Amino acid sequence: ADNLTVGELAEKMDKKPNELIMKLMGMGVMATINQDLDDETVELLASDFGFEVEKTVQVDETDFDAYELNLDNYELSERPPVVTIMGHVDHGKTTLLDSIRNTKVTAGEAGGITQHIGAYQVEIEGKKITFLDTPGHAAFTTMRARGADVTDIAIIVVAADDGVMPQTEEAISHAKAAGVPIIVAVNKMDKEGANPDRVKQELTEFELVAEDWGGDTIFVPVSALKGDGIDELLEMILLVSEVQEYKSTPDMHGRGTVIEAKLDKGRGPVATLLVQHGTLRVGDPIVVGHTFGRIRAMVNDIGRRVKEVGPSTPIEITGLNDVPKAGDQFFAFEDEKKARQIGEARYQREIEAQRRDSAKVSLEDLFDRI
Ligand code: GTP
Ligand code: MG
Repeated sequence: ADNLTVGELAEKMDKKPNELIMKLMGMGVMATINQDLDDETVELLASDFGFEVEKTVQVDETDFDAYELNLDNYELSERPPVVTIMGHVDHGKTTLLDSIRNTKVTAGEAGGITQHIGAYQVEIEGKKITFLDTPGHAAFTTMRARGADVTDIAIIVVAADDGVMPQTEEAISHAKAAGVPIIVAVNKMDKEGANPDRVKQELTEFELVAEDWGGDTIFVPVSALKGDGIDELLEMILLVSEVQEYKSTPDMHGRGTVIEAKLDKGRGPVATLLVQHGTLRVGDPIVVGHTFGRIRAMVNDIGRRVKEVGPSTPIEITGLNDVPKAGDQFFAFEDEKKARQIGEARYQREIEAQRRDSAKVSLEDLFDRI
């Protein structure tokens, strides 16, 4: 549709159309002035006349691939590490986080089982650390499968009285696939029958060899329940992040990943986001996965309303038209019109995909019944 004609190309090169037609004839192509030229012919003709064709690639702004992160032109500053706590069921992930935050999340959870991902920030000696609590590893896997690498450091919790279990192995393979440093927290050290050496022994099979055993994996014995070893664990996290130098810039529109999202009766769609780069502000036009809107309010991990947040900050936002999915990417925009345009296109696409899926399902149902 946007092919050049012989006449148009001639004009661009400041040549007479006849000169081009002659050249084309020389190539064995009979052409008129209004003839459309394909890209290859345009390039060939142009180079014959000593011109170079500059190709402009059409970027589809409704596709998030168009927003590849480029930090080259920014002055980078330190950002808090994002730490994910993983491990086998009941090995003490939530209790460990509680202990770190010195609060009691477990008590408020139904049956003491983590229902969703929580995201929190703590500050130690003036340095912040962002923690993600996960329900088993499903969310972590889903996020990674969807291309969202949110974690900088993985803490693998292993109960010292139970040792390496199937989900410990799973956690290790996820952390390894993500290529992030692993810290092993050997938990429940207060329990009778706690055997940290057995844990160390078992983990050698996964090439996680403790430093005192000649390896380079950090093992920290802790009791999440009693609060023993927590300071050491936090120190190790800070040590690892000093070595890794996690950096970003607040000087761009906020972008990052959805940690969790739900529909709240009073507030509408509520999404917990991890801002990974830039600054996110109340009032920002935003596209989140297939949803969009304008940030109405932002509430931080301790329930306070905030106006703006920078890199590595978990934040709960309202103001979206629908509920996004965990692992979705989000981008804030300067221009509300643009955000709306991109958001609407993505929203329509999702609705259509859902319609197709449900049509497929009901067709399958039908065949099942036959
Ligand atoms: P899921 O979220 O269900 O995967 O479990 P989790 O890994 O978050 O374990 P959680 O923190 O809920 O702890 C499970 C049980 O172990 C609870 O009864 C805790 O009180 C107990 N527990 C956790 N840490 C310790 C510890 O250091 N010592 C002792 N004695 N018990 C602990
Ligand atoms: Mg838990």
